[in-house]
Amino acid sequence: MENVLIIGSTGQIGSELTMKLRGNYKGNIVAGYIPGAEPNYEIKESGPCEVVDITNAGQIAQVVDKYKIDTIYNLAALLSAVAESKPQLAWKIGIGGLCNVLEISREKKCALFTPSSIGVFGLNTPKDKTPQDTICRPKTMYGVTKVTGELLSDYYHTRFGVDTRSVRFPGLISYVTPPGGGTTDYAVDIYYSAAKGEKFVCPIAKGTFMDMMYMPDALRAAIEIMEADPTKLEHRNSFNIASLSFDPEIIFNEIKRYVPDFEMEYCVDPLRQSIAESWPNSLDDTCAREEWGWKPEYDLDAMTNDMLTKLKERFA
Ligand code: SER
Repeated sequence: MENVLIIGSTGQIGSELTMKLRGNYKGNIVAGYIPGAEPNYEIKESGPCEVVDITNAGQIAQVVDKYKIDTIYNLAALLSAVAESKPQLAWKIGIGGLCNVLEISREKKCALFTPSSIGVFGLNTPKDKTPQDTICRPKTMYGVTKVTGELLSDYYHTRFGVDTRSVRFPGLISYVTPPGGGTTDYAVDIYYSAAKGEKFVCPIAKGTFMDMMYMPDALRAAIEIMEADPTKLEHRNSFNIASLSFDPEIIFNEIKRYVPDFEMEYCVDPLRQSIAESWPNSLDDTCAREEWGWKPEYDLDAMTNDMLTKLKERFA
């Protein structure tokens, strides 16, 4: 990995991944963005930025040529809840966009990372310790695009030798760039409410468990999978990775240890709740551990401590 293009560099993952790659690598780390989602000052000042719309193949190809890109991070997507209100657009970005980057990766010999998600699973998937290779029949358009993306990415690898790799991200928690329109977003929002001294209104019901991960672990996963020895990879698109699994009560009680007067009430959002109930409680990430040495570093306490410290500083 030398010259890297991040498509969707101003989103929840992209904004932090861009800065981390720029810190770790000496080549061109190009921040691709779309008008209306401009990079912040830090991203603009620290390296090249280009308008790259995932639905515009010509634009992507031009930037790949200009900076001699060898690795593409394809982070453009609509998250699960918002994709339900715009399913056609979710397909256009998720799959139309993926076809563009797969073809460009084939022609220009780029390695390609396209994140997948716990959203690939559905109601008939084993819920606890969900295996790597299991039933993937999602009920959301987000999940449909992610399963299709996994299949297409594996196809391009076996048929054309394109170096496609991926991980199935759980809900990602970070204090930098908020997610937008996901089902797991509550686990970010709850920290913002606690840090601001506000009561939290939880859209997910008590007892609903989902996989979650702190962003530093997720960034490390996205980089380590692309640096992994290809001869050790039996899977590619896409690896289960796991770190934390909790329901709203567990995270609320954890935050209360730091903010004793913190309050939460439930106002369940039926869409998000039905999506959450169709996803696993916890994934089995043995294959990622064995094939490329995946290991999370943050537990719930370490994440909570860091999140609250950083957010309190910001709101002070
Ligand atoms: N965080 C995503 C969502 O909730 C799942 O990958 O949509």
